[in-house]
Amino acid sequence: MTRSEDQGPAITPRTRAKARHILDHYYIGPSRDASVLEIWGYTERMTYAPGELLALRVSTTAREWDLEIGRDGATYEVMHRESGLKGVHQRTPKDCSVTGCGWEVTYEFRIPDDWREGGYLVTLRAEQDGDRVEEHHLFLLRRAPEKPAAPFVLICATGTWLAYNCWGGSNHYEGITGPEGKSFSPVVSTQRPWSRGFCKLPAGAPRAVPDTPHKPGDMVRYPYMEWAYSYGYSKKYASAGWASYERHFARWAEAEGYEFDFATQHDLEADPDLLKDYQCAVFVGHDEYWSANMRHAVDSFTEGGGRVARFAGNFLWQTRIEDQGRTQVCYKYTADLDPLVASDREHLVTSAWEVFPANWPGARTFGVNGLKGVYAGLGRCVGQGSGGFTVYRPDHWAFEGAQLGYGDQLGAGARVFGYEVDGLDYRMDDGLPFPTGLDGADLGVQILALGLATNIEPDHEIWGETLYIGNSDAVFKAESMFGVCTDETLDRSSRGNGAVIYWQRGLGEVFTASTCEWVMGLVRQDRQVEQITRNVLNRFGNCQPL
Ligand SMILES: [Fe+2]
Repeated sequence: MTRSEDQGPAITPRTRAKARHILDHYYIGPSRDASVLEIWGYTERMTYAPGELLALRVSTTAREWDLEIGRDGATYEVMHRESGLKGVHQRTPKDCSVTGCGWEVTYEFRIPDDWREGGYLVTLRAEQDGDRVEEHHLFLLRRAPEKPAAPFVLICATGTWLAYNCWGGSNHYEGITGPEGKSFSPVVSTQRPWSRGFCKLPAGAPRAVPDTPHKPGDMVRYPYMEWAYSYGYSKKYASAGWASYERHFARWAEAEGYEFDFATQHDLEADPDLLKDYQCAVFVGHDEYWSANMRHAVDSFTEGGGRVARFAGNFLWQTRIEDQGRTQVCYKYTADLDPLVASDREHLVTSAWEVFPANWPGARTFGVNGLKGVYAGLGRCVGQGSGGFTVYRPDHWAFEGAQLGYGDQLGAGARVFGYEVDGLDYRMDDGLPFPTGLDGADLGVQILALGLATNIEPDHEIWGETLYIGNSDAVFKAESMFGVCTDETLDRSSRGNGAVIYWQRGLGEVFTASTCEWVMGLVRQDRQVEQITRNVLNRFGNCQPL
């Protein structure tokens, strides 16, 4: 049989390396050229309290710059403006992604006592010789200590923000480190600006899950990476950051009247008792990187009667937070290079949670596992899925009033399922899924809804296409879970799922939506996703120990 012109194997990014390509590593960072108008800034910490001094470290090639600080709540509210600030162009080390920028403080501001808790956007603007530039930073403001605690605390996924922040060249995915200057960095610093698109995005910026399922016959597309490349945003803007995830939840929750306090995973690391003042801890979006200390904080909270609502997905890697929170370590696929290997702290090696030497499945904290889930709605990985979950237990309290029946699709219209999801090993009995417990999940976990995910991107041999995910994640999973990659272990490592679960854990409760894109159900006003979110918050924000 002769091939027609539009057939032939898809090619790999490596074979395309000589042409610039949206899948290549590119990054946002300083131009290091005084003739290029730019402005960047960061703060030493991610969270502040009213009354504290906010110390901005700004570097700009402009003679003067303007500052705006605004509360990014249900509506954006300008809180502070200053213009004509003197510009200072600061030296940025080449390895700033790893070691930090080391910039001097150029602006200090005492946060007024009456500022409300929330996410605060810091806008830096400069204009010179007809050019204009604007970049953003963000900090979380805690509730003033004299105010009574809110029922809820939103714990921002700063471990994942950091892992994807490409500012300066390197993150936990790609980079300019290593002997050849083109490796990812297992060590990243908080002491640098957030990449463009992490703090603020145009309303129409594409999501990682496209708006419609893939149409057979069309070429695979990655609208978010195409958009990022076209407009100079971070290649990873749709993967992490306030603007893509937490912001959407915070705005929705505030508009609905829920009272929230704000903190980060890094705050949990620094203060393991942080959750004790709250009824319910909420996690949102893409939530992939956690330290052991952060997990212990959540576990002791739920054991003691706390409620956890995790409208998030992709619980995968163990990290270590070092240097008083300024550095995050995650060796990931190269965990054998982690200096703690063969030490008396080997359990803290930064591998995937479910495999040696961490051996602490995520399911023991959140009821689901990262390696049992993964891609859905990303390129050809379940690219023709419905975009929602199949409902199995419509009578569960979490679904009350959502008008869902057995077999219905939940959230498909809003495309909530993806782009990475968490799942668990399950068996079917009389048309209902039950956890097998083989992956560390408690047998008391109730599976309310399920969708399918994959670790292998199918290659339909469409000429001109480029594989993105390929099978590398499945190879990693096969090697780390089965010790060797064979056809059989690769096959067993290819399939996953995303599961909405409820679990009574200790004296507390856990609800996990297991998907990064749950927030899109709120943004796009999917009434069923909104109703379930309300059900969970209403129960968890106002209840007694079980
Ligand atoms: Fe991820």
